[in-house]
Amino acid sequence: MTMAYFLFQAKTLIFIALFVLIYLYLGTQSHTEGTAAHVFARWKRKADFLLVPEINCKVDTPFLVILVTSTYDQLDARMAIRETWGKERLIQYRKVVTFFLLGTTTNNTHQTLLAKENKQYGDLIQKNFLDTYRNLTLKTLMGIEWAHQFCSSSSFVMKTDTDMFVNIFYLVELLLKRKSKTSLFTGFIKLHEKPLRGASSKWYISEAEYPDKLFPPFCSGTGYVFSTDLAHKIYNVSLSVPKISLEDVYIGLCLSELNIIPEPLSTKRIFFSEKVTFSVCGFRNIVTSHRIKPYELLLYWKELENSADLECKSGSDDLA
Ligand SMILES: *[C@@H]1O[C@H](CO)[C@@H](O)[C@H](O)[C@H]1NC(C)=O
Ligand SMILES: *[C@@H]1O[C@H](CO)[C@@H](O)[C@H](O)[C@H]1NC(C)=O
Ligand SMILES: *[C@@H]1O[C@H](CO)[C@@H](O)[C@H](O)[C@H]1NC(C)=O
Repeated sequence: MTMAYFLFQAKTLIFIALFVLIYLYLGTQSHTEGTAAHVFARWKRKADFLLVPEINCKVDTPFLVILVTSTYDQLDARMAIRETWGKERLIQYRKVVTFFLLGTTTNNTHQTLLAKENKQYGDLIQKNFLDTYRNLTLKTLMGIEWAHQFCSSSSFVMKTDTDMFVNIFYLVELLLKRKSKTSLFTGFIKLHEKPLRGASSKWYISEAEYPDKLFPPFCSGTGYVFSTDLAHKIYNVSLSVPKISLEDVYIGLCLSELNIIPEPLSTKRIFFSEKVTFSVCGFRNIVTSHRIKPYELLLYWKELENSADLECKSGSDDLA
């Protein structure tokens, strides 16, 4: 046996050993789906995303995943949410987590800073599309795709915005009261809404984009909640429903394709798409309020925490 031949054999052996080790390592990373094909498919799905949050839903399964549409420049709002309703916590032993949905900008520095932010907080979800208001539908669908691909073991998903107050405690309580954990789509339900044709409106939609005179039933994009089984269904049907720029109406179109009708979660009104005047007893009995600035959110949250002992007369602070 020559020296060269021996070295060749040794190299081959090392190569094979390395391959086996990598294969075994990838196997431990993917838990139940250990085959090479599964590992590759999972890697490829992940590679479609620029940023993903630091969570393994199969091991550390959340009850509720809150997805918040956000933009690069809203760092103060993200920070306020991380310190208040978006903080990872257990509510009645159920885990609630909050992640932010982002697109891309044309400034590379922004991307570097977002990657850094995700390294620190591990709560960003991002794909490669231009982050504009008219691309909001893509942003929401990205969140639903993420939930379906990487967190299908969770029970519920909420989609909301950065300028919202979310009473996660009351929401979890109401979701737990519901016996079934499937086929739920809820929020501030809008029936018989008409498309706005005035070109100056923020919600303008042309007849070319949406010719019908009425929208299907949908829930206000300020905050809607659905059982995670619907993430897969909505994602799948969205591949064949032409995109329109109104994100909440678009999800309504997907639901009507699926014959799913939004339903109320409570007999009282709990989802508000407008700003509700703050009071401790009022806010204990709602799930969402809109147009909340980061400093207001921090203030309200502190007030709610400080008045944990306050008893509210039942019924006296109903807002609906
Ligand atoms: C890119 O973003 C950084 C950070 O916000 C800013 O300082 C810089 O001026 C931006 N560059 C351009 C070309 O807009
Ligand atoms: C949406 O994102 C795509 C992909 O980056 C981009 O080409 C397109 O211009 C964006 N659309 C709008 C309306 O901003
Ligand atoms: C996905 O959508 C296609 C067409 O929209 C439909 O035929 C198929 O049954 C759907 N699959 C699932 C699992 O929902």
